[in-house]
Amino acid sequence: MKKTIRDFELNSKRVIIRCDLNVPMKDNVVLDDTRIKSSVRTIKYAIKSSAKVILLSHLGKVKSEEDKKSNSLKPVVEILSKYLNKEVIFSPDTRSTSLTEKVNNLKDGNVLLVENTRFEDLDNNKESNCDEELSKYWASLGDIFINDAYASSHRNHASVTGIPKYLPSGIGFLVEKEIKKIDSLVNSNTHPYIVILGGKKISDKIVLIENLLKKCDKLIIGGAMSFTFLKAAGKEVGSSIVSEEHITFSRDMLSKYPDKIILPKDFVVDNTVKDIKDFTSKDIGYDIGPKTVKLFTKEIKDAKRVIMNGPMGLFEDPRYSSGTDKILKALTKYKVKTVIGGGDTANAVNSLDYSDLFYHVSTGGGATLKYLESGRLIGLDAIEDKK
Ligand code: 3PG
Repeated sequence: MKKTIRDFELNSKRVIIRCDLNVPMKDNVVLDDTRIKSSVRTIKYAIKSSAKVILLSHLGKVKSEEDKKSNSLKPVVEILSKYLNKEVIFSPDTRSTSLTEKVNNLKDGNVLLVENTRFEDLDNNKESNCDEELSKYWASLGDIFINDAYASSHRNHASVTGIPKYLPSGIGFLVEKEIKKIDSLVNSNTHPYIVILGGKKISDKIVLIENLLKKCDKLIIGGAMSFTFLKAAGKEVGSSIVSEEHITFSRDMLSKYPDKIILPKDFVVDNTVKDIKDFTSKDIGYDIGPKTVKLFTKEIKDAKRVIMNGPMGLFEDPRYSSGTDKILKALTKYKVKTVIGGGDTANAVNSLDYSDLFYHVSTGGGATLKYLESGRLIGLDAIEDKK
């Protein structure tokens, strides 16, 4: 059992809370604030306990100076402030005397949000490589470290695993809830247990597939990821997204688990529907087609528990959202105990008026898959155990 924020006396303490405020953003406008809302409970608790609250989070990937413009956490300030009903001070620096001063000037109950931790990646990947000096600097800003960034807890990054090496640490309410819900689904031991994967973060997810296959009864693959498997199975996938480097691995999985892996039969290609066997070299599949929806629904109907991670197509475009919609509806219609994971899928679900029919909508994507696959998260291993 990990220590939680409840195990600490927070009064007048500088409490660093690592949140996951990695929200979808376009032109510096937040498109979905689910992750901000999910972070509020722990922050409010710290404010009420008269802590000096210092928030850290990453946003997107920062590989060049140019990336900084579209990956600033500044637009989050206003939204967070609205939910907390109080001013949120912002530090445009991630490491400077000015940031240290801002922290030193915090009064009990104040909240300071520090700019995107991955801005430090421009300096030799210091955040993503868990640089020791950076971890120590951030730790020096606080007295207690709380990890509430469930969705980032699979990352060995300075703001996740580095800081707790140097500070007393615990988990926040969001991490506590996520782990409880996912553990309950995994441990319920009812069958059939189905994993549904989709989305386009192929390389992150594909490596976890083998362990998932050992545990689940069926693995349904839709979305962009399915084309790598279909190509591995010898099908023409046209110009659809394929991860060439994972073809051999996918072929291996298909031959080891031929009865477990279920792949799409048809796709929406532009404005028509095409069977995969009729694909030409120019075709691109944007969503699963009706035969595939029927095939996947047949499995869902009998399922006792499901993990769904990633959409079935390019659902953000209304022309290609139907496949994801229908699969989500089937899961609620047949009352399957379902955990939805993945930033994109969670956003899709949260915009539906029946989102509360799901057992749990996780804020984590890669983190949830990693936890399912190995039963551990490096970011949680870094947190102190309860005595
Ligand atoms: C996510 O969106 O899954 C988390 O915020 C982690 O982001 P990352 O994949 O860029 O590390």
